[in-house]
Amino acid sequence: MPREILVLYYSRHGAVRQMAQLVARGVAQVPGAEARLRTVPRVSAVTETRAPAVPEAGAPYVELTDLAECAGLALGSPTRFGNMAAPLKAFWDSTSELWLSGALEGKPASVFTSTSTMHGGQETTLLSMMLPLLHHGMLILGVPYTEPELTTTRSGGTPYGTSHTAGTASDQPLSEHEKTLCIAQGRRLARIALKLAP
Ligand SMILES: Cc1cc2nc3c(=O)[nH]c(=O)nc-3n(C[C@H](O)[C@H](O)[C@H](O)COP(=O)(O)O)c2cc1C
Repeated sequence: MPREILVLYYSRHGAVRQMAQLVARGVAQVPGAEARLRTVPRVSAVTETRAPAVPEAGAPYVELTDLAECAGLALGSPTRFGNMAAPLKAFWDSTSELWLSGALEGKPASVFTSTSTMHGGQETTLLSMMLPLLHHGMLILGVPYTEPELTTTRSGGTPYGTSHTAGTASDQPLSEHEKTLCIAQGRRLARIALKLAP
């Protein structure tokens, strides 16, 4: 039975969704590994209605069982003032049950992000996304400099996780370097998850 890598993301304008699909492509390049794409519903300061159980389009909403069952996790979020987006943070705030049971302890995880601007907080967002994963006992994987695109990129790409610079109008497509790094990140995560899986 293939080992599943959960690719969990939030995306408002599509950049992080595209990155998630490329990370999933990298996962699928590893024999024995399979990607499970999941997202989270939007949140607002005043919540009057619940999101429908199933989104109208795109990946299904994540459930705690997705985390419990995965062999590894790729987590993607747009930058929100240098931080992880609230819908993903809200999801992590609902995971105490898994934390208490140690369900994620020892599983590998890695993170990716998209910002409008080159210096708009890619690294801080990636670091903020690592914090709940560390509390859950996950093993954080970055992107190594043995990936040549990390050195030659003129837009996104960091050793903390792949990043994309989308432009202030969200109109910049993923560069070839960013795409390659997304795929490499998914492939690396899947390879290591298979090695660590019991
Ligand atoms: C409330 C808010 C805060 C944001 N903060 C930043 C920021 O600090 N730096 C930045 O470069 N972009 C910032 N952005 C832009 C998004 O991170 C960027 O458009 C990202 O590419 C969106 O990803 P998506 O297409 O997956 O939704 C912000 C956007 C919103 C709505």
